[in-house]
Amino acid sequence: MKTFQYQNNLLHCENLALAEVAAAVGTPVYVYSQTALLARVEEFIRAATAVSPHPHVAYAVKANGNPALLRLLAQAGLGADVTSGGELFLALHAGFPPDKIIFSGVGKTRAEIEMALDAGIKALHAESEMELAAIGQIANERQQKARIGVRVNPNIDAKTHPYISTGLHAHKFGVSGEKAMAMMQQATAHRWLEPVGLAAHIGSQITDLGPFGESARFLVGMSDELAGMGIHLNYLDVGGGLGIDYSDDSIVNRQSSIVDITDWVTAVAQPITQVGYQIVMEPGRSIIGPTGLLLAKVIYTKKQGEKQFIILDAGMNDLVRPTLYQAHHPILPANEVTGSSEVPVTCDIVGPICETGDFLARERPFPPVRPGDLVAIMQAGAYGFAMASNYNGRLRPAEVLVNGKQFRIIRQRQKLGHLLDGCIEDAVWEYTP
Ligand code: LLP
Repeated sequence: MKTFQYQNNLLHCENLALAEVAAAVGTPVYVYSQTALLARVEEFIRAATAVSPHPHVAYAVKANGNPALLRLLAQAGLGADVTSGGELFLALHAGFPPDKIIFSGVGKTRAEIEMALDAGIKALHAESEMELAAIGQIANERQQKARIGVRVNPNIDAKTHPYISTGLHAHKFGVSGEKAMAMMQQATAHRWLEPVGLAAHIGSQITDLGPFGESARFLVGMSDELAGMGIHLNYLDVGGGLGIDYSDDSIVNRQSSIVDITDWVTAVAQPITQVGYQIVMEPGRSIIGPTGLLLAKVIYTKKQGEKQFIILDAGMNDLVRPTLYQAHHPILPANEVTGSSEVPVTCDIVGPICETGDFLARERPFPPVRPGDLVAIMQAGAYGFAMASNYNGRLRPAEVLVNGKQFRIIRQRQKLGHLLDGCIEDAVWEYTP
């Protein structure tokens, strides 16, 4: 069965009409399919175990850190790739075994490094010489071995949006091949550092296998050189980055990936397992992106000059991807429009926020809608709620998980009181007007 489909003209997630979720929980609300999520996890694990004896699939927590979803992913056998102390906390809290957690990111603080060493994670990935030195210093103070990897920047153009392209030397991520070799030698010579892996992550939403294969072969080439110097690693980590299909407005009837999970896993894992290393992958979007949508309600419509606007109760604070990356998300009416009289009109589908950049779609043909109608912004499981904010005093949306005909709330909608969280209002200096 398709994850999202129309039944009797009503858009469903699995066998649940989205209108039921809206009636019970309100809008905007993120809706995820448990069945679809587990199916994608299984596909990753199946594909990886087919080409490698001990693959390590570390879910990139940044894509969606909902604690209930994380618990499900940990139970399904995944590891975690974290990028802050906060994500490390969430991953440990969700039950990911510490030896399945990898910590990436260009600016790990002392407190974060200590937290990782306390937990005994699989490895910290150093992204600069200074960061490696900091890890070495802290490990030395604690007289505790720190397992490390080095993130190499292979200078490969991933051909994706410039804001999410990370594998060129012009980007802040990782270090050059030469520097990585030198850092590996330094780590090997250090009493408290244990080099275990080499990592690369060239960007996100990549839909061409070419750059991935190039990056995997780059890692293999480097590991060969290291082996020649007597440095033997445990694993090579190809990062994440596999893109999904945002382009198709009739998404309910089509595949949600452009590149198949199995094809991607095979392409990145084979060069690595052939030379005997453990393969590590850090997928985020490709696991969770297609399994979630953002359900919103039409508040008003208006025509201004030649422009037709649909104003929703969801905006850039709920889903910032269209604003930030000019990303295209398919948008579907929750009530399927079948009559030939309902001709689509080209609209801007916008939020209530006071910014012109607050749009979910621009110049999009859409069937006529009325206030109160529901619309679903598809492919929103990854980097949706994760990037949500309280901008304009708006409350973060609820999240629900669907299984068959049932749903459960996995995060309550924020209440107005959340806007005061942590604030100390009487801390102002006395002022008498
Ligand atoms: N590993 C590392 C080191 C990363 O930096 C990332 C994503 C991933 C893995 C997971 O990549 P994925 O499989 O999800 O492509 N907010 C942007 C995406 C930013 C990605 C940041 N790093 C968006 O909404 O498109």
